[in-house]
Amino acid sequence: MEEKEISRAVISRLPIYYRYLGQLVDEGVERVSSKELSNIMRSSASQIRQDLNCFGGFGQQGYGYNVKFLYEEIGKILGLDKKHNLVLIGAGNLGQALANYVNFERRGFIIKGIFDKNTVLHGKTIRDITISPMEDLNSFVLNNNIDIAVLTIPKESAVVVTQDLVKCGIKAIWNFAHVDLDVPEGIVVENVHLSESLMKLSYDLNRKELEN
Ligand code: NAI
Repeated sequence: MEEKEISRAVISRLPIYYRYLGQLVDEGVERVSSKELSNIMRSSASQIRQDLNCFGGFGQQGYGYNVKFLYEEIGKILGLDKKHNLVLIGAGNLGQALANYVNFERRGFIIKGIFDKNTVLHGKTIRDITISPMEDLNSFVLNNNIDIAVLTIPKESAVVVTQDLVKCGIKAIWNFAHVDLDVPEGIVVENVHLSESLMKLSYDLNRKELEN
């Protein structure tokens, strides 16, 4: 499929399409119109058509969309048809919560190793994955075909650990530390800040309260 330059706004909606279509697949729904999809997703049918047209369009006039096909194609666009090996660095509260979440594996994200500097944690396991010392990180990344590092460590540590990961050829970083990481071009960083989401919620709540 030919891909044009796609806006970040469209890309940010693809996981949402993927999630809703996954539900329809599970329910055995075979086809869906943009109108039906818009009702389920609470967005406009024209936006859905516009978004999907960016990828060449998957719908057929009078038929709508083939749910399974669309689900699989969006999965491919998102790279979910491939497996990715991950290491998680920082086995504290957040790291443990992420490591315990089994659904990442369903999407092809396999946590291969967990690392922490705290010696008390070494040798403990989370879902059969042993928590290892940081000294073992570099060789592990080099020898286990690791694409993605998940950083659930404080920001000062994240900056230092990132430098090591870059040297080991890491391709992507899922960064939960509250810092903008400086990485060479070609390395992908996705920052996740739950507090930003909470602030958006706070903004909406605030506006509602001002209206009343
Ligand atoms: P925590 O204190 O429970 O866990 C942090 C873990 O990182 C500890 O096990 C510690 O030993 C380890 N660690 C610290 N420095 C390290 C290093 N240089 N190398 C390896 N391991 C190291 O903290 P929690 O609650 O799990 O949060 C972790 C980080 O994530 C914090 O910096 C926090 O601010 C951030 N955070 C970010 C959120 C977000 O939405 N982005 C949400 C919650 C926390």
